Order: sequence, then C-alpha cells, then structure tokens
Amino acid sequence: MTLDGSPGADSPSQDLLVAAVAAREFAQAHYSGFKVGAALATADGIIVTGCNIENATYGLTVCAERVALLKAVSEGHTSFTRIAVVADTGEPTMPCGACRQLLWEYCGDIEVIVGNLDEPTGRHRLASLLPLPFDRRRLR
Ligand code: THU
Repeated sequence: MTLDGSPGADSPSQDLLVAAVAAREFAQAHYSGFKVGAALATADGIIVTGCNIENATYGLTVCAERVALLKAVSEGHTSFTRIAVVADTGEPTMPCGACRQLLWEYCGDIEVIVGNLDEPTGRHRLASLLPLPFDRRRLR
C-alpha cells in the first residue's frame, strides 16, 4: 500500500495521488461505471482536483483531468508541475488524447503520475505522451 506511506512515491507525488483518490469518490460515472480521480499541482504547491463527470448524451462527458485543469485555470492558476490520475484498475489509466492536448496547452511538459487506489503504477513526462504536438507554435 504505497499510498499509505512506504516506498514507491516521493512525498509530493504521494500527496497528489491521495488527493486524486479522494476526488475520485465524487465521480459521476453512471454510464461507464469507471470512476477516475485527478489532482493537478500548481507551481506554488496548490492541489486542484477533478473527477470524471458523465452525461446522458455520453459525448458531453468530461474526464477527471480536464475537470481539474479547467477548475485550476478558471481560478487563475497558470503554472503547473504535475498531475496524478487514478482509477481502480491493475493497469495504469492513461489520460486520453483530448486531455493530453489540453494539458499540453496549459501545463506544458508536466509530470504525469498514474496509479490505482493503492499505489503508483507509472510516471511519465507529458511530452513523451504527446509527441509532435499541435500547439500555438504551429499557428504562425
Ligand atoms: N476517463 C477519465 O476521466 N480519465 C481518463 O484518463 C480516462 C477516461 C473517464 C471518461 C469516462 O467517464 C470514463 O472514464 C470511461 O471512459
């Protein structure tokens, strides 16, 4: 049970994973049954959380990562260091393509820590998850 304290994650990562696990409890996953929690750390050490919020149209579902990101940006945060994403799965739950795109736009090359309810299961840089990105540099 790495999230409870022993080796596997440094303390800031562990705090972030614990926050993501707590946020997951609020997930509105009535259609998929797949609850996800996310926790985004700002450069000044604030944690902003999110959970997935589904909708009867299905297509209007918003992932946990984007909920956390949009909450943070809408509250004035502009600089980020890492995000934790958790689900109750053995295999890591990776951010979807849409979330990778938006995280890249607003967070840049942050660390992406994925985990389940008990332990971290992976650690990546966002740039490695979104190679050759389309971003504002391409708009010139
Ligand atoms: N989901 C997330 O919230 N984040 C991910 O990284 C993967 C998928 C949500 C969207 C939907 O509510 C459910 O998981 C099933 O795809």
